[in-house]
Amino acid sequence: MSLFTGCGGSDSGLHQAGYDVLMANDILPYAKDFYLANFPETDYQVIDVREIQSFPSADVLVGCYPCQGFSQGGARQSSRGVNYLYREFVRALKRIKPKAFIVENVSGMQRSDFRHLLNSQLCQFRLAGYRVNYRVIDVSDFGVPQERKRLIFVGVRSDLGEVFAFPEATHGTAIQNKITIGDAIGDLPLWPEGDYWTETFHWYYLSRNRYRGWDELAKTIVSHPRHMPLHPVSPKLKRVHTDKWVWESDGPARRYSYREAACLQGFDRSSCFPETENSSLRMKYTVVGNAVPPPLFNVIGKELLNYL
Ligand SMILES: C[S@@+](CC[C@H](N)C(=O)[O-])C[C@H]1O[C@@H](n2cnc3c(N)ncnc32)[C@H](O)[C@@H]1O
Repeated sequence: MSLFTGCGGSDSGLHQAGYDVLMANDILPYAKDFYLANFPETDYQVIDVREIQSFPSADVLVGCYPCQGFSQGGARQSSRGVNYLYREFVRALKRIKPKAFIVENVSGMQRSDFRHLLNSQLCQFRLAGYRVNYRVIDVSDFGVPQERKRLIFVGVRSDLGEVFAFPEATHGTAIQNKITIGDAIGDLPLWPEGDYWTETFHWYYLSRNRYRGWDELAKTIVSHPRHMPLHPVSPKLKRVHTDKWVWESDGPARRYSYREAACLQGFDRSSCFPETENSSLRMKYTVVGNAVPPPLFNVIGKELLNYL
């Protein structure tokens, strides 16, 4: 059972690990379109989670509630209502009583001003009858060609008598073991007309380094296309002042396309972006940037099978 499913980055990793997803949910219609184009078997409901009345019985509950309130790019206000959607996850957990659950969230939740939210979640998971382990994971350690750290909670129902142990990194910590931008998208067209966001690079965009080269990890793939990092075909940026970067050379620059962003998130190359009444360039970027990198949930899901 999947909540806050988005386009299903998390679920895609779990599918590959051998799970069937019975029911999924989000408020974004295009997330459903994308999901069903790739996984047509799931009962996907576009509805506010607060309105879901009944849940199927399931062995595992997965949820990646939104993180605008404490993400690096968000407003960072611990009081924002969006930060409390985890209570809906706990409501589902108490109803379904699955053998285990997995939650993904941004690492910023560990910051001191959000610590009370982290502790509150741990407390509610434990009161619901789960032994919980959590860890900040660098997704590049699991074969995702990107700088992205995420906080993962895994809970195992107390009567099963086990505490989940996180798997070891599959791609080490040294850059030579990682998948780089070049490995992931080096063979794709350099100027895929119509697939990338062409808005001019305003001062805010140029207030930090958005560039990474072919042999490096991509900067974090975000959901807002305006803030999408630069493709390596672009000129490099150099810092000339605090919060001010300029192009090192002339030449055209561009952001990653939504398809490249999907590859850098670890989605399957063959993932289908359907054209529907809900699709737009912005929406394609949004669902990809919101997603959990599939390889991360694939590895965690495989490990979790040992506890079910
Ligand atoms: C971090 S994203 C989840 C990404 C997803 N797990 C994936 O891997 O693709 C959070 C999702 O929660 C959804 N969401 C936000 N508020 C919601 C609500 N009240 N009810 C249901 N879904 C909601 C957002 O639309 C967004 O897709």
